Amino acid sequence: MSDNIKGKVIVITGASSGIGEATAKLLASRGAKVVLGARRTDKLEKIAEDIKKAGGEAVYQALDVTVTEENEAIVKLAKDTFGKLDVIFLNAGLMPSSPVSALKTDEWDQMVDVNVKGVLNGVAAVMPTFTAQKSGHVIATSSVAGLKAYLGGGVYCGTKWFVRSFMEVLRMESAMEGTNIRTATIYPAAINTELLTTITDKNTAEAFNALYDQYGISPDRIASVVEFAVSLPEDTTVNEFTVGPANQPW
Ligand SMILES: NC(=O)c1ccc[n+]([C@@H]2O[C@H](COP(=O)([O-])OP(=O)(O)OC[C@H]3O[C@@H](n4cnc5c(N)ncnc54)[C@H](OP(=O)(O)O)[C@@H]3O)[C@@H](O)[C@H]2O)c1
Repeated sequence: MSDNIKGKVIVITGASSGIGEATAKLLASRGAKVVLGARRTDKLEKIAEDIKKAGGEAVYQALDVTVTEENEAIVKLAKDTFGKLDVIFLNAGLMPSSPVSALKTDEWDQMVDVNVKGVLNGVAAVMPTFTAQKSGHVIATSSVAGLKAYLGGGVYCGTKWFVRSFMEVLRMESAMEGTNIRTATIYPAAINTELLTTITDKNTAEAFNALYDQYGISPDRIASVVEFAVSLPEDTTVNEFTVGPANQPW
């Protein structure tokens, strides 16, 4: 299974914690060359060190996905360092959930900027390369919030629905245009990461913390799904994965 992973060059956004960190470590252990992006470079430095100590290959660079040029720069870093780019994992995101009536409009803007525009910026940064080489794999972290509406998730759910829709159109158009660009969209449920620290609304934070205390599972589970998607032969795509705790009702 790991043969199609070894030697692949993979950019990971939101690689400084949680799902991104777990995925970077797993893919590197399978022989991928990982390129880590996030804003907290102290964390990225440590993760890259851990990967190298374990015998893997990793580089990192400060990346704010809301800044177009920084997405282009991390793609350039991948190509300059490793000579090519095979996969981008668009995983950066935040979830400052709250009731609409709380009018936390700055947080609405942040979610649109990171969860929506960050994905668009990442895709725009890799498309020229993937189109020219007629291959490439775009993997994105949506959420079960991209499949269901729930209280407090008015804006977050909307951003993750966007990812679902956009990734499906990207898949369809790439197939029709013959560019062989594959897509995989992942819909995690409760995964124990730093994500809940982005919630500032007290009642919403309490409700989510209780839910995650009861059900949350390790981000390693999502890393395994990304590993599977990357491992598939080039003529095969599994477009969507819904993954969560076996005992979580929604
Ligand atoms: N945990 C869950 O239950 C769950 C469920 C469904 C979907 N998800 C999605 O999974 C993805 C990863 O989240 P996580 O759960 O692993 O939480 P996390 O531990 O908080 O990780 C979020 C990552 O996103 C990065 N990030 C945030 N803003 C960024 C920006 N402007 N530019 C670049 N990177 C940025 C953070 O890095 P810096 O702060 O260092 O920039 C961090 O590496 C998110 O898209 C989230 O919506 C999570």
